[in-house]
Amino acid sequence: MGVALLWLQALTVLLVSVVRTAATENDVTPRLTFPYNAKERATRHFSVPGLLNFTSLLLSKEDNMLYLGAREALFALDLADITTPRLQRNITWNTPASKRDECSFKGKDLQKDCFNYIKILLRYNSTHLYVCGTYAFSPTCAYINATDFSLVRGSGGEIVTEDGRSRCPFNPEYKSTAIMADGELYAGTVSNFQGNEPIIYKSLGHGTALKTENSLNWLQEPSFVGSAYIQESLPKGNPVGDDDKIYFFFSEAGKEFDFFDNTIVSRIARVCKGDKGGERVLQKKWTTFLKAQLLCSLPDDGFPFNIIQDMFVLTPHPEDWRNTVFYGVFTSQWYKGASGSSAVCSFTMDQVEKAFSGRYREVNRDTQQWYTYNHPVPEPRPGAVSSRVHTSLAKHTQRVSEYLRRGQ
Ligand SMILES: *[C@@H]1O[C@H](CO)[C@@H](O)[C@H](O)[C@H]1NC(C)=O
Ligand SMILES: *[C@@H]1O[C@H](CO)[C@@H](O)[C@H](O)[C@H]1NC(C)=O
Ligand SMILES: *[C@@H]1O[C@H](CO)[C@@H](O)[C@H](O)[C@H]1NC(C)=O
Ligand SMILES: *[C@@H]1O[C@H](CO)[C@@H](O)[C@H](O)[C@H]1NC(C)=O
Repeated sequence: MGVALLWLQALTVLLVSVVRTAATENDVTPRLTFPYNAKERATRHFSVPGLLNFTSLLLSKEDNMLYLGAREALFALDLADITTPRLQRNITWNTPASKRDECSFKGKDLQKDCFNYIKILLRYNSTHLYVCGTYAFSPTCAYINATDFSLVRGSGGEIVTEDGRSRCPFNPEYKSTAIMADGELYAGTVSNFQGNEPIIYKSLGHGTALKTENSLNWLQEPSFVGSAYIQESLPKGNPVGDDDKIYFFFSEAGKEFDFFDNTIVSRIARVCKGDKGGERVLQKKWTTFLKAQLLCSLPDDGFPFNIIQDMFVLTPHPEDWRNTVFYGVFTSQWYKGASGSSAVCSFTMDQVEKAFSGRYREVNRDTQQWYTYNHPVPEPRPGAVSSRVHTSLAKHTQRVSEYLRRGQ
């Protein structure tokens, strides 16, 4: 089932509500169809006996490689032919027995949970990749030298590792996302063993590590499906990139809909790359975090496709960020006709921008209830990005803290 009608209803941590509609397109005939392994589209196949659970993929145009992360193993395949063993390289990244025992002792399944599942595989710089694995429910990150496809080791020969908490999930089945932006890692994941403390976390690079505020439930049992780095500063030739934004896509419990129980909603959330964190209660917390609802429903009767499954972000040209289109694949929490129906909805950057600058709601710290904000919007607007970072962001930060305090 295909739908291209969409609305954007925005919310923030501090949350918006604007509704926008786009074009409707009901012709869902595929433009191209090929049977599997058709002569004109021969399939190339890679598999290794005993290799389980492919958990990450990185298509690298810089070196024409396809990198694969699996259970305790990584592969580098040459795009010229991913099937030729001569062109393949591999890394084994095992979990030490002591870690596996610990994992099992804490009640996890030794044969399922207590391995190193590679969940993050990203380019770090022109010569290195960044990799994180669940490491038997003890997330761990490392660097890979892409030239010889090997884990970076210290002088003693040991693998140089970093704590992967708040970057990589503990549970290999948890849906997380991560993206590298200019040497900084932005991750949407969980920060604890139990898996009930969701987080959007920035680390690596030079700036302070920043995260979402847990006590305010900025995130409500999210299931992340993707993230995107939009370089708004490119056309301006601004090397600092303060206007750049990182977007996250996920579904979560729709706690603002108190008239329905267990309503799932899909979200687009964003933070600014120039965010330096706030003051007092907002130290090391985002001051620019905003989220909005992605509404995808049938044009005729409004039947909702409320659970986002994937998001493809198409920017026609890196400098042309304003013409970015967000294509989401959605399913529904409810049934209609044939079960398992799904929809594709597209959202333009214009709609997203409008939602993020429209009316918003705020959350009351004590009751955890959302209220539409009906007073004059403070200046600078909560969550707004400022290119005059040093003066204005400080002021803005203060506003946000005041603003949060008002809800107390
Ligand atoms: C890994 O793959 C095996 C075999 O397909 C499957 O049984 C197992 O559940 C997978 N493990 C995880 C953590 O997804
Ligand atoms: C991994 O690489 C080693 C060394 O090149 C090679 O001997 C081995 O066959 C490779 N393993 C797989 C599964 O390709
Ligand atoms: C890339 O990062 C690695 C790991 O930090 C570092 O050793 C290497 O020098 C960097 N390469 C470049 C070209 O900056
Ligand atoms: C990466 O590997 C190449 C080839 O082995 C080596 O020449 C280079 O020094 C390595 N880079 C680092 C930062 O270790």
